[in-house]
Amino acid sequence: NLAAQKLYEGKAKILYATDDPEVLLTYFKDDATAFNAQKRGTISGKGEVNCAMSQHLFRLLEAQGVPTHLIDCPTSNTMRVRRVSIVPLEVVVRNIAAGSLCQQTGLELGTPLSPPLVEFYLKNDALGDPLLTEDRLRVMELATPDQVQQLREMALRVNQVLSEFFNQCGITLVDFKLEFGVDGAGKLLLADEISPDTCRLWNQAESDPNRRVMDKDRFRRDLGDVEAAYQQVLQRVLAQSV
Ligand code: C5P
Repeated sequence: NLAAQKLYEGKAKILYATDDPEVLLTYFKDDATAFNAQKRGTISGKGEVNCAMSQHLFRLLEAQGVPTHLIDCPTSNTMRVRRVSIVPLEVVVRNIAAGSLCQQTGLELGTPLSPPLVEFYLKNDALGDPLLTEDRLRVMELATPDQVQQLREMALRVNQVLSEFFNQCGITLVDFKLEFGVDGAGKLLLADEISPDTCRLWNQAESDPNRRVMDKDRFRRDLGDVEAAYQQVLQRVLAQSV
């Protein structure tokens, strides 16, 4: 009985305990939210896309030396993961200006960012996930200075690996969000998911700024064909072996 073991239900996933205290089960939902849950909907098939894509990319990253929480996927929309204590930060890497960066700075959509930007946001819905400065990070003691440095290095390494991988898929990795956890031994692991919900992905075969969008911006901005875009991303990702 899964309901009895439910630990936490988020906007897009549900976390369950298992018989092994070191192992949790993540269920990927079709539910979609945007703008801090002010916009809600369903993207049919999203749970399976996000689960399969996260599994593929976590395996790729593991092979490239980035430790992740992934164990395996017992079904098409569930993932077994190592239990970690989640660092309450959203680490965003940006290769091209889009989204909140454009809104908050006036930078033009599509401006290349080289070297890439690494940003830390507080994972706190009630506060609206505010952007943190290095000084605020230090004051809040959410991570040690050493961990912040490690998070930045891991995020940039993930960006290198994923940018090259998506490029081989004919997709430009514009930006993405990562979450990390600390395991029982104090080791930082990449956690959460990597999916069209958490990345901006542009189809290199399309120049039209709306048609090229293959990620959750189709849902956020009511661009239509959301399901088809998610399926297309997954097909291309699974076609590239890790
Ligand atoms: O909204 P913003 O431009 O800051 O988002 C940057 C990247 O982080 C986007 O790829 C977005 O999908 C992702 N993100 C996320 N979860 C959030 C905020 C942003 O996955 N809570």
